[in-house]
Amino acid sequence: MIKHLRSAADLDAATATLILDTAAEMAALSGREVKKLPALRGRTVVNLFYEDSTRTRISFEAAAKRLSADVINFSAKGSSVSKGESLKDTALTLQAMGADAVVIRHPASGAPHRLAEWVDGSVVNAGDGTHEHPTQALLDAYTMRSRLGRLDGLKVAIVGDVLHSRVARSNVLLLTTLGAQVTVVGPPTLIPLDTAAALAEKTQVSYDLDAVLPDSDVVMMLRVQTERMQDSYFPSAREYSRRYGLDMRRMRRLPEHAIVMHPGPMNRGMEIAPEVADSPRSTIVEQVANGVSVRMAVLYLLLGGK
Ligand code: NCD
Repeated sequence: MIKHLRSAADLDAATATLILDTAAEMAALSGREVKKLPALRGRTVVNLFYEDSTRTRISFEAAAKRLSADVINFSAKGSSVSKGESLKDTALTLQAMGADAVVIRHPASGAPHRLAEWVDGSVVNAGDGTHEHPTQALLDAYTMRSRLGRLDGLKVAIVGDVLHSRVARSNVLLLTTLGAQVTVVGPPTLIPLDTAAALAEKTQVSYDLDAVLPDSDVVMMLRVQTERMQDSYFPSAREYSRRYGLDMRRMRRLPEHAIVMHPGPMNRGMEIAPEVADSPRSTIVEQVANGVSVRMAVLYLLLGGK
């Protein structure tokens, strides 16, 4: 087993499949009245969050607690980070406290890689800048597999703000490792040439959503990340949704069995219409539930739980 999960590229097909299979066993637990396993009793998991998060933070906390680990939640707001303490000094503090695993979300791409040099425990990337978010990709893959029965040969469209999306990057890496065929779709400004060139080795690139939908098993909508945009990437929100938003009319272009995904948080009415988000084809709430099982599996396997 690998020690750290910093990138979806850390996972070969066998390791990724082991995580998904272990997550399925963990999911069986969530149906029980007592949802706890003693697997990580006496181990310490630190959640180190330098960036806002709802789902990911709660999900890692629930996962660690269900495995009986001691959980320390650290958020940069209200800590010595506001006094200018560096990531390195914070890492040395965690090291002194004997953290067995550190789950980190950070606005700087690559922060988890640096952190792994400074702590002895396992490092799990919970989202670093615009770079990667490997556990999101794992929970997405888990959701596709449980809804559609397989990943090999599955046609997945990842749509929208690809440029700023760590979710897209990790999904491209993981899904192609597991045999899916990925197409990234969005306006040229949000899939600029260098991004398209970097992705071209592994995926198709398209600027025409209507053309891609009829041949997709999965459509994954991405949030338009206005907080990361210094320039204007499209004329208006209305124009964006007209070309790249998934509304009911567009959803009908999908094959009967296809599912609609979104990692959350959503801009309802922009990249996804509320009726689509709440439709039976949408797996958005299921993705959140699966996130806990997948993160339990990751912590369990990285920490060598028995
Ligand atoms: C994503 C993230 O933070 O990278 N959300 C998540 O983890 N569920 C996607 C986003 O912010 O749009």
